[in-house]
Amino acid sequence: MENKTIVITGGSRGIGKTVAETYRQRKANIVIGDIRDAEGEKLVAKMNEEAGAKVAIYVHTDVSHYEDNRHLFRTAESEFNRVDVAFLNAGIGSTSNTLFAPLDDDREESIFNVDLIGVVKGTKVALLHMAKNKEDSAIIINASTCSFQTPPAMSAYNAAKHGVIGWVRSLDFLPKVCNVRINANTDLMTDLGDRSIEPYWKVADALPRASMKTLIQAIDICIKNTTKSGAAILVLPDGVSDFPRPAVFESTVNEATNKALEIYKVEMVEQYKKELDIALKRYSDN
Ligand SMILES: NC(=O)c1ccc[n+]([C@@H]2O[C@H](COP(=O)([O-])OP(=O)(O)OC[C@H]3O[C@@H](n4cnc5c(N)ncnc54)[C@H](O)[C@@H]3O)[C@@H](O)[C@H]2O)c1
Repeated sequence: MENKTIVITGGSRGIGKTVAETYRQRKANIVIGDIRDAEGEKLVAKMNEEAGAKVAIYVHTDVSHYEDNRHLFRTAESEFNRVDVAFLNAGIGSTSNTLFAPLDDDREESIFNVDLIGVVKGTKVALLHMAKNKEDSAIIINASTCSFQTPPAMSAYNAAKHGVIGWVRSLDFLPKVCNVRINANTDLMTDLGDRSIEPYWKVADALPRASMKTLIQAIDICIKNTTKSGAAILVLPDGVSDFPRPAVFESTVNEATNKALEIYKVEMVEQYKKELDIALKRYSDN
Protein backbone atom coordinates (compact mmCIF):
# COMPACT_ATOMS: atom_id res chain seq x y z
CA MET A 1 0.00 0.00 0.00
CA GLU A 2 3.04 2.29 0.07
CA ASN A 3 2.13 5.61 -1.59
CA LYS A 4 -1.29 4.25 -2.59
CA THR A 5 -4.38 6.19 -1.61
CA ILE A 6 -7.27 4.72 0.35
CA VAL A 7 -10.55 6.58 0.86
CA ILE A 8 -12.37 5.43 4.00
CA THR A 9 -15.91 6.50 4.79
CA GLY A 10 -16.92 6.41 8.44
CA GLY A 11 -13.23 6.50 9.36
CA SER A 12 -13.43 8.95 12.28
CA ARG A 13 -13.95 6.15 14.80
CA GLY A 14 -14.61 2.43 15.21
CA ILE A 15 -13.72 -0.06 12.49
CA GLY A 16 -12.99 2.63 9.89
CA LYS A 17 -10.52 4.36 12.21
CA THR A 18 -8.62 1.11 12.89
CA VAL A 19 -8.49 0.35 9.17
CA ALA A 20 -7.16 3.88 8.55
CA GLU A 21 -4.45 3.43 11.18
CA THR A 22 -3.48 0.01 9.84
CA TYR A 23 -3.04 1.18 6.24
CA ARG A 24 -1.26 4.34 7.38
CA GLN A 25 1.26 2.08 9.16
CA ARG A 26 1.74 0.48 5.75
CA LYS A 27 2.50 3.93 4.33
CA ALA A 28 -0.72 4.51 2.41
CA ASN A 29 -2.19 7.99 1.99
CA ILE A 30 -5.40 8.16 4.00
CA VAL A 31 -8.54 10.11 3.10
CA ILE A 32 -11.33 10.02 5.65
CA GLY A 33 -14.91 11.02 4.90
CA ASP A 34 -17.21 11.22 7.92
CA ILE A 35 -19.68 13.46 9.70
CA ARG A 36 -17.72 13.33 12.99
CA ASP A 37 -15.47 16.25 12.12
CA ALA A 38 -13.58 16.73 15.40
CA GLU A 39 -12.61 13.04 15.67
CA GLY A 40 -11.67 12.79 12.00
CA GLU A 41 -9.60 16.00 12.02
CA LYS A 42 -7.79 14.84 15.15
CA LEU A 43 -6.94 11.47 13.59
CA VAL A 44 -5.48 12.91 10.38
CA ALA A 45 -3.59 15.64 12.27
CA LYS A 46 -1.84 12.89 14.28
CA MET A 47 -0.97 10.96 11.11
CA ASN A 48 0.43 14.06 9.41
CA GLU A 49 2.41 15.05 12.47
CA GLU A 50 3.94 11.57 12.77
CA ALA A 51 4.84 11.51 9.07
CA GLY A 52 6.10 15.10 9.00
CA ALA A 53 4.21 15.50 5.71
CA LYS A 54 0.69 15.61 4.35
CA VAL A 55 -0.24 11.92 4.19
CA ALA A 56 -3.82 12.10 5.45
CA ILE A 57 -6.81 14.36 4.93
CA TYR A 58 -10.26 14.61 6.44
CA VAL A 59 -13.25 15.68 4.34
CA HIS A 60 -16.64 16.29 5.93
CA THR A 61 -18.87 13.79 4.11
CA ASP A 62 -22.42 12.65 4.60
CA VAL A 63 -22.37 9.49 2.45
CA SER A 64 -26.09 9.74 1.76
CA HIS A 65 -25.51 12.80 -0.47
CA TYR A 66 -23.93 12.68 -3.95
CA GLU A 67 -22.43 16.14 -3.55
CA ASP A 68 -20.52 15.07 -0.42
CA ASN A 69 -19.28 11.86 -2.08
CA ARG A 70 -18.12 13.90 -5.10
CA HIS A 71 -16.30 16.36 -2.86
CA LEU A 72 -14.64 13.51 -0.94
CA PHE A 73 -13.28 11.69 -3.99
CA ARG A 74 -12.38 14.88 -5.88
CA THR A 75 -10.40 16.11 -2.88
CA ALA A 76 -8.64 12.74 -2.57
CA GLU A 77 -7.69 12.75 -6.24
CA SER A 78 -6.54 16.36 -6.32
CA GLU A 79 -4.45 15.88 -3.15
CA PHE A 80 -2.89 12.49 -3.91
CA ASN A 81 -3.38 12.22 -7.73
CA ARG A 82 -5.50 9.09 -7.67
CA VAL A 83 -7.60 6.73 -5.56
CA ASP A 84 -6.48 3.08 -5.41
CA VAL A 85 -8.82 1.70 -2.75
CA ALA A 86 -12.22 2.83 -1.46
CA PHE A 87 -13.40 1.31 1.83
CA LEU A 88 -17.10 2.21 2.02
CA ASN A 89 -17.65 1.56 5.69
CA ALA A 90 -19.89 4.35 7.06
CA GLY A 91 -22.96 2.86 8.66
CA ILE A 92 -25.53 3.27 11.41
CA GLY A 93 -27.57 0.79 13.39
CA SER A 94 -29.51 3.14 15.61
CA THR A 95 -32.88 2.86 13.86
CA SER A 96 -32.69 -0.91 13.37
CA ASN A 97 -35.76 -1.81 15.36
CA THR A 98 -38.63 -0.05 13.61
CA LEU A 99 -41.51 -2.53 13.36
CA PHE A 100 -43.78 -1.01 16.00
CA ALA A 101 -42.11 2.40 16.13
CA PRO A 102 -44.07 5.56 15.21
CA LEU A 103 -44.79 5.95 11.48
CA ASP A 104 -42.02 8.43 10.85
CA ASP A 105 -40.56 8.91 7.34
CA ASP A 106 -37.19 10.21 8.57
CA ARG A 107 -36.69 7.36 11.00
CA GLU A 108 -37.44 4.77 8.31
CA GLU A 109 -35.34 6.39 5.63
CA SER A 110 -32.23 7.22 7.66
CA ILE A 111 -30.85 3.70 7.99
CA PHE A 112 -31.41 2.89 4.30
CA ASN A 113 -30.00 6.27 3.24
CA VAL A 114 -26.72 5.64 5.05
CA ASP A 115 -26.26 1.85 5.02
CA LEU A 116 -27.58 1.07 1.53
CA ILE A 117 -28.03 4.22 -0.56
CA GLY A 118 -24.76 5.63 0.83
CA VAL A 119 -23.01 2.52 -0.53
CA VAL A 120 -24.70 2.83 -3.93
CA LYS A 121 -23.83 6.54 -4.24
CA GLY A 122 -20.31 6.01 -2.88
CA THR A 123 -19.67 3.20 -5.37
CA LYS A 124 -20.90 5.23 -8.35
CA VAL A 125 -18.74 8.23 -7.46
CA ALA A 126 -15.71 6.06 -6.56
CA LEU A 127 -15.98 4.36 -9.96
CA LEU A 128 -15.81 7.68 -11.80
CA HIS A 129 -12.42 8.25 -10.19
CA MET A 130 -11.04 4.71 -10.08
CA ALA A 131 -12.14 3.52 -13.54
CA LYS A 132 -9.45 5.82 -14.99
CA ASN A 133 -6.70 3.84 -13.21
CA LYS A 134 -4.41 1.75 -15.39
CA GLU A 135 -3.76 -0.66 -12.51
CA ASP A 136 -6.18 -2.90 -10.63
CA SER A 137 -8.19 -0.97 -8.00
CA ALA A 138 -10.55 -2.14 -5.28
CA ILE A 139 -13.83 -0.95 -3.80
CA ILE A 140 -14.60 -2.74 -0.53
CA ILE A 141 -17.94 -2.51 1.22
CA ASN A 142 -18.19 -3.13 4.94
CA ALA A 143 -21.40 -5.16 5.14
CA SER A 144 -22.31 -7.32 8.15
CA THR A 145 -23.18 -10.81 9.31
CA CYS A 146 -26.68 -9.23 9.18
CA SER A 147 -26.28 -9.34 5.38
CA PHE A 148 -27.21 -13.01 5.80
CA GLN A 149 -28.58 -13.39 9.31
CA THR A 150 -31.80 -11.85 10.56
CA PRO A 151 -32.14 -11.01 14.26
CA PRO A 152 -35.63 -9.42 14.43
CA ALA A 153 -34.39 -6.54 16.58
CA MET A 154 -32.10 -5.47 13.71
CA SER A 155 -34.77 -5.77 11.00
CA ALA A 156 -34.21 -2.52 9.07
CA TYR A 157 -30.42 -2.87 9.42
CA ASN A 158 -30.65 -6.48 8.13
CA ALA A 159 -32.68 -5.32 5.13
CA ALA A 160 -30.16 -2.58 4.29
CA LYS A 161 -27.16 -4.92 4.72
CA HIS A 162 -28.85 -7.68 2.65
CA GLY A 163 -29.33 -5.02 -0.05
CA VAL A 164 -25.62 -4.19 -0.03
CA ILE A 165 -24.78 -7.81 -0.94
CA GLY A 166 -27.23 -7.67 -3.88
CA TRP A 167 -25.48 -4.50 -5.07
CA VAL A 168 -21.99 -6.02 -4.80
CA ARG A 169 -22.91 -9.31 -6.44
CA SER A 170 -24.61 -7.48 -9.32
CA LEU A 171 -21.34 -5.70 -10.09
CA ASP A 172 -19.12 -8.78 -10.39
CA PHE A 173 -18.65 -8.06 -14.13
CA LEU A 174 -16.82 -4.76 -13.49
CA PRO A 175 -13.27 -6.00 -14.25
CA LYS A 176 -14.43 -6.73 -17.82
CA VAL A 177 -15.31 -3.05 -18.20
CA CYS A 178 -12.58 -1.29 -16.21
CA ASN A 179 -9.79 -2.00 -13.71
CA VAL A 180 -12.04 -1.89 -10.66
CA ARG A 181 -13.32 -4.78 -8.55
CA ILE A 182 -15.95 -4.53 -5.82
CA ASN A 183 -16.31 -6.97 -2.90
CA ALA A 184 -17.97 -6.99 0.51
CA ASN A 185 -16.85 -8.04 3.99
CA THR A 186 -19.43 -9.36 6.38
CA ASP A 187 -18.26 -9.12 9.96
CA LEU A 188 -19.26 -8.88 13.57
CA MET A 189 -16.55 -7.11 15.47
CA THR A 190 -17.47 -4.70 18.21
CA ASP A 191 -20.18 -3.32 20.43
CA LEU A 192 -23.34 -2.84 18.35
CA GLY A 193 -23.89 0.46 20.12
CA ASP A 194 -27.68 0.46 20.25
CA ARG A 195 -29.09 -0.28 23.69
CA SER A 196 -32.64 0.34 22.39
CA ILE A 197 -32.78 -3.17 20.99
CA GLU A 198 -33.48 -4.88 24.30
CA PRO A 199 -34.11 -7.78 24.93
CA TYR A 200 -31.88 -8.74 21.97
CA TRP A 201 -29.05 -6.90 23.67
CA LYS A 202 -28.29 -9.84 25.96
CA VAL A 203 -27.85 -12.07 22.89
CA ALA A 204 -25.75 -9.44 21.09
CA ASP A 205 -23.46 -9.12 24.10
CA ALA A 206 -22.97 -12.89 24.13
CA LEU A 207 -22.08 -13.23 20.42
CA PRO A 208 -18.51 -14.35 19.66
CA ARG A 209 -16.76 -11.66 17.62
CA ALA A 210 -14.22 -11.69 14.84
CA SER A 211 -10.92 -9.92 15.45
CA MET A 212 -9.76 -6.77 13.74
CA LYS A 213 -6.83 -8.82 12.45
CA THR A 214 -9.27 -11.09 10.60
CA LEU A 215 -11.05 -8.10 9.06
CA ILE A 216 -7.72 -6.68 7.85
CA GLN A 217 -6.94 -10.11 6.38
CA ALA A 218 -10.24 -9.94 4.42
CA ILE A 219 -9.54 -6.38 3.23
CA ASP A 220 -6.05 -7.46 2.13
CA ILE A 221 -7.64 -10.27 0.09
CA CYS A 222 -10.01 -7.76 -1.56
CA ILE A 223 -7.05 -5.52 -2.43
CA LYS A 224 -4.53 -8.14 -3.54
CA ASN A 225 -6.55 -10.98 -5.07
CA THR A 226 -7.24 -9.67 -8.57
CA THR A 227 -9.59 -12.58 -9.34
CA LYS A 228 -11.95 -11.65 -6.50
CA SER A 229 -14.98 -9.72 -7.78
CA GLY A 230 -18.57 -9.48 -6.56
CA ALA A 231 -17.75 -11.68 -3.57
CA ALA A 232 -19.15 -11.64 -0.05
CA ILE A 233 -16.29 -12.49 2.26
CA LEU A 234 -17.22 -13.75 5.71
CA VAL A 235 -15.12 -12.35 8.56
CA LEU A 236 -15.85 -14.69 11.45
CA PRO A 237 -14.28 -15.66 14.78
CA ASP A 238 -12.81 -18.73 13.04
CA GLY A 239 -11.33 -16.77 10.13
CA VAL A 240 -12.05 -15.63 6.57
CA SER A 241 -14.05 -17.55 3.95
CA ASP A 242 -16.22 -16.86 0.90
CA PHE A 243 -19.99 -16.99 1.28
CA PRO A 244 -21.04 -18.85 -1.87
CA ARG A 245 -23.63 -17.40 -4.24
CA PRO A 246 -26.94 -19.24 -4.44
CA ALA A 247 -27.12 -21.55 -7.46
CA VAL A 248 -29.26 -20.53 -10.45
CA PHE A 249 -32.78 -21.97 -10.12
CA GLU A 250 -32.72 -24.79 -12.64
CA SER A 251 -36.32 -24.37 -13.78
CA THR A 252 -35.64 -20.72 -14.75
CA VAL A 253 -33.11 -21.60 -17.47
CA ASN A 254 -33.20 -23.74 -20.58
CA GLU A 255 -31.11 -24.09 -23.74
CA ALA A 256 -32.53 -20.92 -25.28
CA THR A 257 -31.87 -18.93 -22.11
CA ASN A 258 -28.29 -20.15 -21.97
CA LYS A 259 -27.70 -19.14 -25.60
CA ALA A 260 -29.21 -15.70 -25.00
CA LEU A 261 -27.10 -15.34 -21.88
CA GLU A 262 -23.89 -16.09 -23.76
CA ILE A 263 -24.68 -13.34 -26.29
CA TYR A 264 -25.76 -10.95 -23.54
CA LYS A 265 -22.49 -11.41 -21.61
CA VAL A 266 -20.53 -10.13 -24.64
CA GLU A 267 -22.96 -7.36 -25.60
CA MET A 268 -23.36 -6.02 -22.08
CA VAL A 269 -19.61 -5.50 -21.69
CA GLU A 270 -19.53 -3.41 -24.90
CA GLN A 271 -22.61 -1.50 -23.76
CA TYR A 272 -21.18 -0.77 -20.29
CA LYS A 273 -17.84 0.35 -21.73
CA LYS A 274 -19.69 2.91 -23.88
CA GLU A 275 -21.80 4.02 -20.92
CA LEU A 276 -18.70 4.39 -18.74
CA ASP A 277 -17.01 6.64 -21.35
CA ILE A 278 -20.10 8.85 -21.44
CA ALA A 279 -20.32 8.91 -17.63
CA LEU A 280 -16.64 9.87 -17.27
CA LYS A 281 -17.04 12.71 -19.76
CA ARG A 282 -20.23 13.94 -18.09
CA TYR A 283 -18.47 13.86 -14.71
CA SER A 284 -15.40 15.75 -15.88
CA ASP A 285 -17.63 18.41 -17.53
CA ASN A 286 -19.39 19.14 -14.23
N1 LIG B 1 -19.54 -3.06 14.99
C1 LIG B 1 -19.74 -4.23 14.44
O1 LIG B 1 -19.57 -5.29 15.03
C2 LIG B 1 -20.14 -4.31 13.03
C3 LIG B 1 -20.51 -5.53 12.52
C4 LIG B 1 -20.84 -5.64 11.20
C5 LIG B 1 -20.80 -4.55 10.38
N2 LIG B 1 -20.46 -3.36 10.91
C6 LIG B 1 -20.46 -2.24 9.99
O2 LIG B 1 -19.20 -1.63 10.03
C7 LIG B 1 -19.32 -0.25 9.76
C8 LIG B 1 -18.64 0.55 10.84
O3 LIG B 1 -19.22 0.21 12.08
P1 LIG B 1 -18.59 0.60 13.50
O4 LIG B 1 -18.94 -0.49 14.43
O5 LIG B 1 -17.19 1.00 13.34
O6 LIG B 1 -19.51 1.85 13.85
P2 LIG B 1 -19.13 3.27 14.48
O7 LIG B 1 -20.43 3.89 14.83
O8 LIG B 1 -18.08 3.15 15.51
O9 LIG B 1 -18.49 4.02 13.22
C9 LIG B 1 -19.28 4.38 12.13
C10 LIG B 1 -18.74 5.65 11.55
O10 LIG B 1 -19.60 6.00 10.44
C11 LIG B 1 -19.85 7.39 10.54
N3 LIG B 1 -21.11 7.74 9.88
C12 LIG B 1 -22.36 7.51 10.29
N4 LIG B 1 -23.25 8.05 9.43
C13 LIG B 1 -22.52 8.63 8.45
C14 LIG B 1 -22.85 9.33 7.28
N5 LIG B 1 -24.13 9.60 6.95
N6 LIG B 1 -21.85 9.77 6.47
C15 LIG B 1 -20.55 9.54 6.80
N7 LIG B 1 -20.18 8.88 7.92
C16 LIG B 1 -21.15 8.42 8.73
C17 LIG B 1 -19.90 7.69 12.02
O11 LIG B 1 -19.75 9.07 12.28
C18 LIG B 1 -18.76 6.83 12.54
O12 LIG B 1 -17.54 7.51 12.53
C19 LIG B 1 -20.82 0.01 9.63
O13 LIG B 1 -21.20 -0.01 8.26
C20 LIG B 1 -21.43 -1.15 10.36
O14 LIG B 1 -22.72 -1.43 9.90
C21 LIG B 1 -20.14 -3.20 12.20
